[in-house]
Amino acid sequence: MLTRILTPDNEAIITAAKLLKAGQIAALPTETVYGLAADAKNEAAVKAIFEAKGRPQDNPLIVHIADISQLYEIAAEIPDKALTLAEKFWPGPLTMIFKKKSVIPDVTSGGLDTVAVRMPSHPIMQEIIRRGNLFIAAPSANISGRPSCTNALDVFEDFNGKIPLIIDGGECNIGLESTVLSLVTDTPTLFRPGFVTVEQLEETVGKIKISEAVTSPIKQGERVQSPGMKYRHYSPNAKVVLVKGEHSKVCQFIKDKEDSGVFALMFEGEKPIDNCLFYGKREDSAEQAKNLFKRLREVDRLGAKTVYVECPSTLGVGLATFNRLIRAAAFEIVNV
Ligand code: TXA
Ligand code: MG
Repeated sequence: MLTRILTPDNEAIITAAKLLKAGQIAALPTETVYGLAADAKNEAAVKAIFEAKGRPQDNPLIVHIADISQLYEIAAEIPDKALTLAEKFWPGPLTMIFKKKSVIPDVTSGGLDTVAVRMPSHPIMQEIIRRGNLFIAAPSANISGRPSCTNALDVFEDFNGKIPLIIDGGECNIGLESTVLSLVTDTPTLFRPGFVTVEQLEETVGKIKISEAVTSPIKQGERVQSPGMKYRHYSPNAKVVLVKGEHSKVCQFIKDKEDSGVFALMFEGEKPIDNCLFYGKREDSAEQAKNLFKRLREVDRLGAKTVYVECPSTLGVGLATFNRLIRAAAFEIVNV
């Protein structure tokens, strides 16, 4: 299959909307990461997403909408807190989980009776939803397990020959996937931290429960509330190790590893070491979030065998970056 990359002019947007309507899949930009899109109501199209990504079938997809009226068509129960959150954070990088209506097929929701919904702020994504009068099911556009893609070329690297179309919307502004929050539980439960922070959510609707799986590995045999939490994630080919401690000690620890193929991701503006890439300033969590996946893909291209990553703060957006990194590192943190 020939994979076309189109710049997002009017014609490309119409092409994408038609293609999705016809039951095909396409990669589209959003403000968080690129999504691999299909018509959420079309079972065959949704199955094609799982196949292209190599995604386990019990891992549900997020359904993207462009207008609040669409929420009422797919969610069976909409608590007040959800409307308050939608008012404040939609369109934007917040996904909310609701009891689903039957218009959303089981393949889309991974067999669950709930549906994850997000209204993205990216104008191209919004326009394609509107033009096609669609609900767009879209997981992150990456081969399952790999770091998500934050630009069209990264998507091309994973899906060349496997999908017909990539709409090139440039670099994603946020660079990490949306915050995932369940509104099905009495106290809203955070399944995945993102750019909308716990602090912001609590300011808006009060107490939020943070699922243990956000920062800890799933125990054997444990029932997971959000299937995505149990799979290996965000991993480059290189082995990732998180290193926590004073900068000079982190540097010394990495220098002592004399293997070839050792790379480091460190904070910008601090004393670097050999084979070191920066992923943002220590104090700038948003910048770290934006650069992380891009850098993880970059170290692979450079032929890294191991990449040591200076551990980020877990406050605010930092919790999202930390959550992706500990998964990429299979929960291995070295304290120096
Ligand atoms: O920013 C984003 O959220 C991007 C862009 C494309 O919108 N999408 C994305 O999708 O990251 P994905 O499929 O890579 O991650 C969705 C996560 C998964 O961990 C999945 O298990 C969880 O959300 N999820 C989806 N529906 C769910 C549900 N009904 N109940 C619990 N967890 C759900
Ligand atoms: Mg993903």
